[in-house]
Amino acid sequence: MPEILYNNVSYQIPAGVSLLEGLEQQGVAIASSCRSGPCQTCKKKLLQGNVPTDAQRGLKPTEQAQGYFLPCVCYPTENIVIADIDFADTFPSQILSIKALNAEVAEIKLKCPENFQYQPGQYIQLFKNNTLCRNYSLASQPELEPLTLHVKKVIGGEVSAWLHELAEGYELRISSPLGNCFYQPSTQKQPILMLGTGSGLAPLYGILKSALKANHQEDIWLFHGVNDPSQLYFQDQLQALAEQYPQLHYIPCVAEGALAGCEQGMIVDIALKKLPSLKNFMVYLSGAPEMVKQASLKSFLAGASMRDIYKDPFG
Ligand code: FES
Repeated sequence: MPEILYNNVSYQIPAGVSLLEGLEQQGVAIASSCRSGPCQTCKKKLLQGNVPTDAQRGLKPTEQAQGYFLPCVCYPTENIVIADIDFADTFPSQILSIKALNAEVAEIKLKCPENFQYQPGQYIQLFKNNTLCRNYSLASQPELEPLTLHVKKVIGGEVSAWLHELAEGYELRISSPLGNCFYQPSTQKQPILMLGTGSGLAPLYGILKSALKANHQEDIWLFHGVNDPSQLYFQDQLQALAEQYPQLHYIPCVAEGALAGCEQGMIVDIALKKLPSLKNFMVYLSGAPEMVKQASLKSFLAGASMRDIYKDPFG
């Protein structure tokens, strides 16, 4: 049984069990999301030994060369020594502004580090200290505005609650951009469906602006789901965009207490009632993991190709 040395503690990982699962079963808390490779939330660094090639699939060649790999798709075959993401590989940034979007979500603007290239809809890891970080999606457009996040204050959340209290000018560190949930100009001839719950609007807003900037002519459907109307935000901006771009259809959805202009019910059901066939659609899903999972399956059953379904789940 391979032995894993992590933070100077030794763990044995049984054959056929992923490193992520094996460590979790032994009481180690590791941030994870998709648990299958695309989101890169669980990324760790290899200090000694080798990991199977599959454990580095999807990472940039520069990251592979530095020894980064994904524990959720790593089935160790030999003894290895691993560590958290090297804090030294992160970028310095600074809080430029914090603005409440509603009672629980704040728009946080950060100084974009030099040579920081990203696609709207990707995410960064934002570090509170050298071991504690959380993922936040990028709603901003490069070169036009600072890095922009929508941060929901999670009750008891060690990073989100701290972020909400920071002042302008505070300096912190962020990872390089991660993830593959962003607009692809090669999909110009495909309609787009976007479903986001809560602050899951952030990557979708970035993707939407990219699509409009690229003059995407096919229909773009954006459904934003929340529990009650007070949790909606960016309604004015999105309605204004929908008036300017006739191909954009913005549909706010609430689980309870719908106001004029909102649909009431579950976001996935509302979307599929309006769009029963998703053949040839690009589908972007962001927000609560259960919604993303259900929407992914239902989108596939409605005709979307798995290749065209992009997911950004977070708890
Ligand atoms: S949790 Fe490992 S890549 Fe998503």
